Parts: sequence; structure tokens; C-alpha cells
Amino acid sequence: MSALAFLFTSPKLKDRMTSQRKMMLLILCALSLILIKYYFRLTLHLQKMYGCWNDQVEEPQLSAWFNSANRSDVITTTNWHAPIIWEGTYNREVLEKYYKRLNITIGLAVIAPAGIIRQYLKEFIQSANKHFMTGYNVIFYILTDNLNKVPHLELGLLRTMKLFFIPANTALEDYSLWYMKHLETNIIDFIQYEVEFLFKMDINQIFKDDFGVETLGRSVAQLHGWWYFKNTEDLPYEKRSLAAAAIPSGQGDFYYHSTIFGGTPQEILALLVEYEKGFTHDTSKDINSNFESHLNKYFFVHKPAKLLSPEYNWESNLKTPPQIKHVKIEWQSVSIENDYMD
Ligand SMILES: *[C@@H]1O[C@H](CO)[C@@H](O)[C@H](O)[C@H]1NC(C)=O
Ligand SMILES: *[C@@H]1O[C@H](CO)[C@@H](O)[C@H](O)[C@H]1NC(C)=O
Repeated sequence: MSALAFLFTSPKLKDRMTSQRKMMLLILCALSLILIKYYFRLTLHLQKMYGCWNDQVEEPQLSAWFNSANRSDVITTTNWHAPIIWEGTYNREVLEKYYKRLNITIGLAVIAPAGIIRQYLKEFIQSANKHFMTGYNVIFYILTDNLNKVPHLELGLLRTMKLFFIPANTALEDYSLWYMKHLETNIIDFIQYEVEFLFKMDINQIFKDDFGVETLGRSVAQLHGWWYFKNTEDLPYEKRSLAAAAIPSGQGDFYYHSTIFGGTPQEILALLVEYEKGFTHDTSKDINSNFESHLNKYFFVHKPAKLLSPEYNWESNLKTPPQIKHVKIEWQSVSIENDYMD
């Protein structure tokens, strides 16, 4: 306004300006003031609309769906503030509102060597078909060395199955490494373009109850049912200090079960790459840690964003303590083919 005042009071300009011109200038000023006001109001309105829309798309805050106070009998939050999902701590409906809108697809990868397909695959897939991410797009990825042995399986709505042929391992390479390398290649070539989240699970499991969106996260680790109830000093981490997977004694957060892990395809890739690096490092030192040791080391260094309680993976023949309220997946101990599994 002071600029305008200067314009009208400056003697030189005053002389040259007719009263008509002054009037026009005044009208123009008034018009632009109205336009500016309108513009700001419109912007504010758009901002509000965007904020409203954004509220629904943004991932719900932890406090909106996670209630740790309900389970004072167990650890519900890690010291790096990651939630541990126990029965009674989560509100699945709140998360469904968010994930349903995103129309996500979740992958479930399983390794199925011919020798154990008959024993486990049907029950694993049939129970997953019923309980794994019900209502969402799901792709089951089956990695096998014998496509002919994979039985015909009826799948529900929104579920598809993809088979990856993994040539039998003729060299004396580690079984687990061989399959994980192929899983890695398939994530790079296909899976990362097809799913938002990916789980890798062992085949010797049966879903008993809904395994839903409360388990989704950037990186997800499974607490080992047996070791959760043991002292930290006894946890079976790799202890040989030369090993890549070594965790210094007295350190380590939890003991994770390699039977279930998940996250974004990129996070799974990072884990697998680290595992292969560790494995190669160890070979030169003549050390051979199993996959689970490498997984525990990975999650010790790269803390998982979410942990699943032992309710998500409970061994069928263990005595069930009162903390285990609701078993989601039952783990069957492997008898004969023990060397096939970690
Ligand atoms: C608390 O947990 C129990 C099961 O353990 C569940 O039935 C109940 O709904 C939970 N309450 C809240 C507020 O989450
Ligand atoms: C949701 O995703 C699936 C699988 O990617 C796709 O086939 C379907 O068209 C999508 N639906 C909508 C409404 O975007």
C-alpha cells in the first residue's frame, strides 16, 4: 500500500495523470486485490482437500492400530521401537482400510525340492490359500527342481501360483545357498515387479488362522518360539569370531527363526545378498554357518521394522505356554529330510 500511496502523492506523476487514469488504476488495483484474495482462498481449499485425501492414503500411525498395553505378559516393543505383533495388540481393521485402498499384491515364496513336495506342499498351499492375506492379491512362488511333482492345487479368488524351475544341484554346493541364489535371481527378474511385499516361508508349516496385513512391513522377522522363552546367554547364534555371521557374546536382541521372514522385495534382496557375501567370506576360512545364523546376523545389524510373536510360528509338539494365545502357523518338525532344511 505504501507503494501506491507514493504513486498518488508523487508530484511529477500527479501532474501527468488525468483523473480518469487514476480511476482506472484504482479499479485495476481493486480487481487484482480481489483476485489475489480469491487465489489464496482457492489454494487453501485445495490444500485442505489434499490433506484430507492424504490422510487416508498415508500409512496409519502405530498408535492407531497397535495397543501394547493389552499384553503386559510379553515383550511388545523392541528397544529400537519396533512393534512385536501378539494376539490382542493389533487392530487389523484399521490397517485393512489403508491396504485395501492401495490394492497391494503380496508374494509368498517357498522352496520345494522334489523329495519333500509330497509330504508338505499341498497342506502348506491349501492352508495358505485359506489364511494368508485373505482378500488381497496373492502370488505363491514355488521353487522346485521337479515341476512334475507339483500337485494340482485349487486356488481361491485373487490367488495365483507361479512355478520356478531350479535345476538340481550337482556341485557340492550348500543346498540353502543354491536355492536362495535362485530366489534372488527371480526377485530381480520378476518378483519385484509383481508384489509390494514378499514373504519367504519354509514348506513344513500349516496355517491355522488368519495371517493378515498386521504382519506387513519394510522388514519382518519371526521370533523363534523355543528360544523366546530362554535366556539371552543361551541363544544359538554363530559364536566363532572368524565367521561372518558371528554375534559377539552377550550381544544380540532376539533369536529369529528363518522359517518365516518378509518385507519389501528390496529388503529381502539385501538380506540374500548379505547372506551370499557372508557365505563366500566363510568359505575362504573353512567355516560353514547355516542360513539361520546369517539371518540372525543380518537382523542384528539391520534391525527389523516389525517382529512376529511366536504365535505366528509355533511348533506343534511343544507344550503351549499361556502367552501363546492364538497359533497362526504350526511348524512341523522335519524328520527324515532334516538336511534339506535349516
Ligand atoms: C486384548 O486382547 C484380547 C485377547 O488377548 C482381545 O480379545 C481384546 O480384544 C484385546 N483388547 C484390545 C483393546 O485390543
Ligand atoms: C488391483 O491389482 C490387481 C493385481 O495387480 C489388478 O489385476 C487389478 O486390476 C487391480 N484393481 C484395481 C481396482 O486397480
